[in-house]
Amino acid sequence: MGELSSVYFASDRSAADEAGRLRRLDGFYAAPTIAWLERAVPFMPGMAIAEFGPGSGRMLAWFAQKAGPDSDVLGVDIDLSRADPPAPPVRLMEADLYAPAAEPGRFDLVYARLVVGHLPDPQAALARLMDWLKPGGMLALADLDCSTSLPVDVSTPDLQAVADAMRDLRAAMDASGLMDSAFGARLEACMREAGLTQVQAQRFERIVETGSDWALFQADNVDIIAGLTGAHTAGAVTARFMRAPGVRYHDQALVSCTGVKPA
Ligand SMILES: C[S@@+](CC[C@H](N)C(=O)[O-])C[C@H]1O[C@@H](n2cnc3c(N)ncnc32)[C@H](O)[C@@H]1O
Repeated sequence: MGELSSVYFASDRSAADEAGRLRRLDGFYAAPTIAWLERAVPFMPGMAIAEFGPGSGRMLAWFAQKAGPDSDVLGVDIDLSRADPPAPPVRLMEADLYAPAAEPGRFDLVYARLVVGHLPDPQAALARLMDWLKPGGMLALADLDCSTSLPVDVSTPDLQAVADAMRDLRAAMDASGLMDSAFGARLEACMREAGLTQVQAQRFERIVETGSDWALFQADNVDIIAGLTGAHTAGAVTARFMRAPGVRYHDQALVSCTGVKPA
């Protein structure tokens, strides 16, 4: 158990292409993530923070700035080829999140964004992440609930066809194991089931316009998803909709959740 799903966004693509995609992803989600963490996490100078699946590594630098030069900020990723070179106090470790914790019980904060929903056994992943936490330490996870993606207006056959294509694409992602497209909607319950206390969740939801930078980024992701899952028709309809400007749609929701490991 524990291998990253054999179908992944990076499959078939170069490390440079995936690094670029992960940098754009972080750029789009940095602001809501930082706003959530500022509110939910009691940052203190010198604290120990571990991020799992840091991707581009951009959040690691932010954690280092928050916790100061005496902190310990560790990034653990199964593939570090996409990460920016680290500067102290940031350090990197190439490891599988499902492996036994190399530094158990050491961290005040364990964080992962857009990672657990890609994994085959989320509940086991949560248990592994908790192993790295001190008693009383905080787990902070953010994942997507894509079930909200839908044109605002579905009153015409064209827009209804887009809604159907979006639903088919989600079904293809779920069936292929690429990701659990509604994992974000289950995240809070999973954290409670893992035994975390003081669990709190928030949703970042918005209506966006097709043709915007975000919609164009999503259209590029849709092309990748269609290629990996074989959902070519649903992918083509969805990507064409997202690239043509001027139509509003409900974006996927980013669900962010914190919980405390019992002392
Ligand atoms: C979708 S990216 C998210 C990147 C970053 N957290 C962000 O939100 O911008 C998923 C990241 O998780 C990493 N990853 C996937 N499976 C993993 C595993 N089993 N153990 C550790 N890292 C993993 C990938 O290599 C990738 O960097």
